[in-house]
Amino acid sequence: MEVVIAPAEELARLAADTIEERLRARPESVLGLATGSSPLKVYDELARRHAEEGLSFARARAFMLDEYVGLAADHPERYRNVIEKEIASRVDFAPDAVRGPDGLADDLVAACADYEAAIADAGGVDVQILGIGTDGHIAFNEPGSSLASRTRIKTLTAQTREDNARFFGDDLDQVPQHCLTQGLATIMSAKHLVLLATGKGKAEAVHQLVEGPISAMWPGTIMQMHPHATVLVDDAAASRLQ
Ligand code: F6R
Repeated sequence: MEVVIAPAEELARLAADTIEERLRARPESVLGLATGSSPLKVYDELARRHAEEGLSFARARAFMLDEYVGLAADHPERYRNVIEKEIASRVDFAPDAVRGPDGLADDLVAACADYEAAIADAGGVDVQILGIGTDGHIAFNEPGSSLASRTRIKTLTAQTREDNARFFGDDLDQVPQHCLTQGLATIMSAKHLVLLATGKGKAEAVHQLVEGPISAMWPGTIMQMHPHATVLVDDAAASRLQ
């Protein structure tokens, strides 16, 4: 695991460099996209490189990490809509090239199995962008998640619902209770993991991720087992590292 400590703008450039290198080497690359605040500067930088430097996503595909269950198709916080707004609509992905788990499916279990199959059919994810929750979750694999898990339905913890209430007008009742999420084994199947974390609130999660024992109670710690994991953190998020 490599850990880079730098200001947030530099971290975003480094993550964008990784994606750009992959796309220039193989335009058909498969990207893994995260939602939340952590990757926003990366998406801004990729959109800029697309507009100003001709970086193309036209032959690439992308898979999202997770999705809330039950949010209406046009809800602005539905992750598929967030990804559309933050990155997909700003670059030149082909129609239907970006996929997320279907949180509105009648059969959610089947939707999870379909999603796993789609990732495998695409040849797996080449570069997976990740954030980390204050409780150490990656995607929505909350503490206690099986380290061998695949895409499935999960219940969000009270901590994560509180953390995410800011996206729902600070109204906790509006935050969904359930989600579909790639499992930890799904994420570990990606060829390169790039995790971004900034701010003091992430310091304990980053300490556990990098220096803690591998444990389902800090799900991000599974990344210690990955052969190619990059952790990009600012000074505040790195403040508990030894
Ligand atoms: C989102 C996701 C989550 C977030 C995490 C951190 O797709 O998978 O694991 O990465 O909750 O969220 P932010 O970046 O908003 O602090």
